[in-house]
Amino acid sequence: MALYMKAAEVLEKAEMKQGALKTLVYDSKFANIKQLFALVCETEKFSSILEEIIESTKLLKQTKLKIHLAKVLVYDLLIGRGLKCGGSWKTMMMKQRSRLQAALARMKVKQNVSKNGDLLTVSVQRVVGVQLPRYARVNTLKTTVEDAVDYLKRDGFSYMGQASSLEDLTMKKKDFVQDMHLPEVLAFSPKTDFHDHFLYKAGHIILQDKASCLPAFLLNPPPGSHLIDACAAPGNKTSHLAAIMKNKGRLFAFDLDAKRLATMATLLLRAGVTCQQLANQDFLKVDPDSPQFKDVEYVLLDPSCSGSGMVCLRDDASPADQVQARLASLASFQLRCLNHGLRFPRLKRLVYSTCSIHSQENEDVVTACLQQNPGFRLVPLLAQWPERGLEPLTQCLRASTTKTRTHGFFVALLEKHSEAGNKRPEPAVQISKPEAAAPFGPSTCQKRPAASEEESEASETEDTPTAAAEQADTTPGKKKRRKRTKKKKAATVE
Ligand SMILES: C[S@@+](CC[C@H](N)C(=O)[O-])C[C@H]1O[C@@H](n2cnc3c(N)ncnc32)[C@H](O)[C@@H]1O
Repeated sequence: MALYMKAAEVLEKAEMKQGALKTLVYDSKFANIKQLFALVCETEKFSSILEEIIESTKLLKQTKLKIHLAKVLVYDLLIGRGLKCGGSWKTMMMKQRSRLQAALARMKVKQNVSKNGDLLTVSVQRVVGVQLPRYARVNTLKTTVEDAVDYLKRDGFSYMGQASSLEDLTMKKKDFVQDMHLPEVLAFSPKTDFHDHFLYKAGHIILQDKASCLPAFLLNPPPGSHLIDACAAPGNKTSHLAAIMKNKGRLFAFDLDAKRLATMATLLLRAGVTCQQLANQDFLKVDPDSPQFKDVEYVLLDPSCSGSGMVCLRDDASPADQVQARLASLASFQLRCLNHGLRFPRLKRLVYSTCSIHSQENEDVVTACLQQNPGFRLVPLLAQWPERGLEPLTQCLRASTTKTRTHGFFVALLEKHSEAGNKRPEPAVQISKPEAAAPFGPSTCQKRPAASEEESEASETEDTPTAAAEQADTTPGKKKRRKRTKKKKAATVE
């Protein structure tokens, strides 16, 4: 019963805008986060259908259940894998079962569909249809790609070699491939579950979406360097950076959220990271001129964002003006972080990333930053990557379910090209009102609580939803359409 109580609590809090679904699940301290997240997401997906069934059967009156608890119970009873509770609650729900089933059947007849999934709205269906590969990054602090592959083969997986095209990332059950762009990334079929697997539990593999492996890979700090991970928790990119640096050097990692930072400490320990120095601190208040940062040459900035690229369930129903205001607020915060990141005196390169598909948080932020920091320029990234930043920022990368078989993502790499680089002139472009001080509110993307605490970008819900519909709109020639879509969607996929 604890599962249902917790799921109902999360749904209620999300409805009251006390936090994003993922954050609330993550903060719930429930023992089986993955199970809770799946139930909450599925219930949310079928929300309007469940409400109609509950309403038409007068379930709340009959049972005295509250709406959110009723929804999760009805979901599991009718659509999920059956009730996972016993006792009086089960007895009560079983008494209602035939009436509830009849209501569901009536809905299907009315809509002339045969499957439960067909009852979902078109937009939700499109999102649900997205099945991304399960990606795992081999943690080279603990093992090698060869050893991981050998272990997996001995464990019953079939290694299909290195992928050479996007199609190769569509695999049968136990098949897996090495990624064609990021050699330390392995791709498995979508439902592959590693949470009880030795390689995962021992920190030999990190469950991380391929796109989210891009920032550290592209920043590529050499062993011995000093660098900053500005908004670091839960630390997937931090552990990736540490692996690239072979644990040699100094990795300063900041995060404003103490709980997430505590989780990060545990995950870094499991990943064998030793070169980090964690601080529960606002990155914007970190003094770039402090002697301890005098040798910092690299910065990874992956700030809170709308999360609109995440394959996640919610179709944002916020009014367009709210969505736009939130994006403007996020963009303003992101630009401040970016400008701040460029102020470290010996900085060579900074990588900026978001899991947003909105140009306001991506190209617009980078454009404004470059105008304000003329000593920096964009580094052209991975020529072979299939999706580029929107014109004219084609040096940057975008990622999407359709073109890269990943979550929606954006990466830009800035490098200093003149000594004027870190001296900031007066702002030439303001991308939004300067009101946005700290958009860490409930609906920002603090990236993925998910199946495991570790998976900040992808995974446990890879078989769930996304902004797939919007992905098509990210090509340069489709600006008008994209703008319209933005209005409709935006504010919160977390
Ligand atoms: C997108 S998540 C980072 C995910 C992380 N890079 C990873 O790969 O696991 C954004 C993080 O920024 C943190 N954050 C937000 N505002 C911040 C600030 N002003 N200073 C430091 N961290 C901040 C949030 O708490 C959140 O953990």
